[in-house]
Amino acid sequence: MKQYAIRNTIRLMTDTHTATIPVWDKFIRAFHWALVLGVSVAAVTGFLLRPTWINVHVWAGVTAAVLLLARVLWGIWGSKNARFSGFVKGPREVMAHITELRSGKAARHLGHNPLGALMIIALLGTVLLLSLTGLAGLGGVFKAGPLGFATPYSLGGFTLSVHEILAIFLLVLVGLHIAGAVFEGMRTKENLVKSMVTGEKEMRKGDHDVPDVSSKPIWASLIFGLLLAALVWGGIFLSSKPPFGVPVGPPNATYADECSACHMAYAPSLLPAKNWGTMMAQLGDHFGEDASLSQADTDEITTWLFENASDSIDTKPAHVFSRTNPAFPLAITETPFWKNTHRTIPDEVFTRPPIYDNGNCAACHSDADSAAFYPANISIPKETSP
Ligand code: HEC
Ligand code: HEC
Repeated sequence: MKQYAIRNTIRLMTDTHTATIPVWDKFIRAFHWALVLGVSVAAVTGFLLRPTWINVHVWAGVTAAVLLLARVLWGIWGSKNARFSGFVKGPREVMAHITELRSGKAARHLGHNPLGALMIIALLGTVLLLSLTGLAGLGGVFKAGPLGFATPYSLGGFTLSVHEILAIFLLVLVGLHIAGAVFEGMRTKENLVKSMVTGEKEMRKGDHDVPDVSSKPIWASLIFGLLLAALVWGGIFLSSKPPFGVPVGPPNATYADECSACHMAYAPSLLPAKNWGTMMAQLGDHFGEDASLSQADTDEITTWLFENASDSIDTKPAHVFSRTNPAFPLAITETPFWKNTHRTIPDEVFTRPPIYDNGNCAACHSDADSAAFYPANISIPKETSP
């Protein structure tokens, strides 16, 4: 390090343009670009791609959250310019920096300037909130992930709305962050993006060498390792617990037998009890077919359908298909949600083999039997010969 400093000082005296000074350590650079990647993948899969990409989206988010955890520890034990105590400034210093900027006298900072520091905290805080609202949404709406065992649909739906607003807010922050870096780079005449790649800035008069070493790298890695292991273990453990509001019992055998003769046996949670009651009371004229059963079988099936109808289940399908179409109150495929969600699929896809009918949910949804309808389990099969 000493040799490095001397070499640079000699260079500084001879040629001011080639001497450099280390400002960002390896971790900060790796963290920065990995977070760029994670947030980009999450943004593309979240904003632009179909919901079938949900697993890629979730893993991009989890990656961002893990990076964030490492960054917080590095903010305590990392190298000089990485430490929060070094760069986070109070309102007075931020205001002073703005006043200096206005008068054109603001100093150049080797690490984050007070405004840049504010942006780092805003970015990290928003990514943290995005991870939390995302996990709560995944748990409440899709009954998946570590929070699935405890989160009701209503809470998940709410956190997902917050998640979407935060996602837009994050994009705005990223835009401002890039604009800030361009502005500061022009103001101080140096390429800040390049310095986040090489870790170095051009050495100028008055610059002091900052060591590229952390004070306690062993502690930081040890605690990171332990926390990560605890999170992974906790995540796996909690994800394996039964989801909130989704009682899983074996399907009623009579129902599975009798109601799967002409189409798949629809999960009871796809319609409200009222609609099942009406349907079971008029099996003699069931969508133009005679599906009548003995009174005993009808009663047994009706009781089971009532107990497991959408009114008493907390999944997304149970909620969205509860809003039936008044003109066709007994059909799932006529509900506003079903029609809207499947509107981009051409009619001929539903009639071609091996699908044949839009009521053949299991042809495209591999988890149709459990009525989870998780977006990653969707795949439209290729046409086959009849
Ligand atoms: C004889 C054949 C037959 C039997 C048996 C039968 N169904 Fe149906 N079911 C149909 C037909 C035909 C339709 C209309 C399908 C369509 O419109 O694409 C239908 C539609 C449905 C739908 C609406 C699906 C959608 O597309 O939204 C539900 C729910 C349903 N049946 C439940 C039942 C239940 C419960 C039983 C057992 C008591 C049963 N079905 C037994 C022939 C049958
Ligand atoms: C031809 C294939 C196909 C059939 C048949 C089909 N779906 Fe879908 N379904 C899809 C596709 C594709 C999507 C994703 C649409 C999108 O990109 O937003 C989807 C989305 C959904 C969703 C929303 C998932 C989510 O949370 O994002 C639900 C719920 C659903 N379908 C239920 C059903 C039910 C119930 C049936 C049967 C009555 C059915 N689908 C029949 C292809 C199908």
